[in-house]
Amino acid sequence: MILYRSQIEGVGSYLPDRVLDNAELARMVDTSDEWILERTGIHRRHIAAEGQFTSDLATRAGERALAAAGMTGGDLDLIVLATATPDHTFPATATKVQARLGMTRGAALDVQAVCSGFIYALSIADNFLRLGQARTALVIGAETFSRILDWNDRTTCVLFGDGAGAVALRAVPVTGKPDERGILSTHLHSDGRHHDMLYVDGGPSTTRTTGFLRMMGREVFRHAVANLAQVVDEAMSANGMRASDLDWLVPHQANRRIIDGTARKLGLDTAKVIVTVGEHANTSAASIPLALAQGVGDGRIRKGQLVLLEAMGGGFTWGAGLVRM
Ligand code: ACO
Repeated sequence: MILYRSQIEGVGSYLPDRVLDNAELARMVDTSDEWILERTGIHRRHIAAEGQFTSDLATRAGERALAAAGMTGGDLDLIVLATATPDHTFPATATKVQARLGMTRGAALDVQAVCSGFIYALSIADNFLRLGQARTALVIGAETFSRILDWNDRTTCVLFGDGAGAVALRAVPVTGKPDERGILSTHLHSDGRHHDMLYVDGGPSTTRTTGFLRMMGREVFRHAVANLAQVVDEAMSANGMRASDLDWLVPHQANRRIIDGTARKLGLDTAKVIVTVGEHANTSAASIPLALAQGVGDGRIRKGQLVLLEAMGGGFTWGAGLVRM
């Protein structure tokens, strides 16, 4: 029997043109560049244009990941799209992307795990490929969080942005050689008891409206630091590795202080952490593939290097993935 592993063949991302910086935001709500920067590390964020949807961002990022992989939509067996801001309640935004990428077979589905969405989507696609149910997959994280923000609530609206990132995967036979490329393991968790700490106060079955994001920031911060430390340890020890083996940490980009806290816990030099939160803010499910695309694009992350991905989000959900690029 042949065993398979999922290899990342290409990475791509897309950010809307419109940039909203802290100074402009301070003219909209009672905040300041200093407050936002000191508490979060965020300078600016990208905002989708009127009429530009999550599917548009996802398609652009997906096209770029496929091009980097030397693949086309016609080569794909599976699309898994992580988003908390779908175009419509149904059908899945992934099916729209499927059509636009020219993929007419296989399956396309959305995954909802908010900021952990990309790790969840990657884990699902990895399992399809390992089981031989798909040979190729496109995993996308795409969000238009600007549409679910209460722009009068300074405690939340300053934290988020829009964007998309994607990776193209191919199943390759496991050879058993050391330093084999591919997804080594993924680790997922959730704990629904913390629903009320981070949620959207609307939805088709409750209010029949879309609603706005609500968050108990301080509580979320506390749980994020603890949960990320736990899952990062879990991923490293499951592979018999130590943080010193890592070439890069590519964390979910919620807050510079959470990122620095996780790096400190790992004993990892901050020079080994890809940080994009300053330029993108928190793009939820899109933040990890956006950061990964930045690291690959500027030549820092190279083939064969060991990369740890981690995220925590509403639900609560949290997870990690260890990848040899
Ligand atoms: N501008 C100016 N003042 C503000 C702003 C703002 N944008 N927002 C809140 N304040 C004020 C508050 O009203 C409060 O004033 P008060 O003391 O007079 O009542 C004061 O600043 C302190 O507010 P806190 O909420 O206690 O500030 P804190 O230091 O906790 O920072 C923050 C808030 C940045 C949200 C922090 O708690 C955090 O980063 N939490 C994590 C949340 C997160 O990242 N969520 C993303 C989704 S989950 C994930 O991705 C991990």
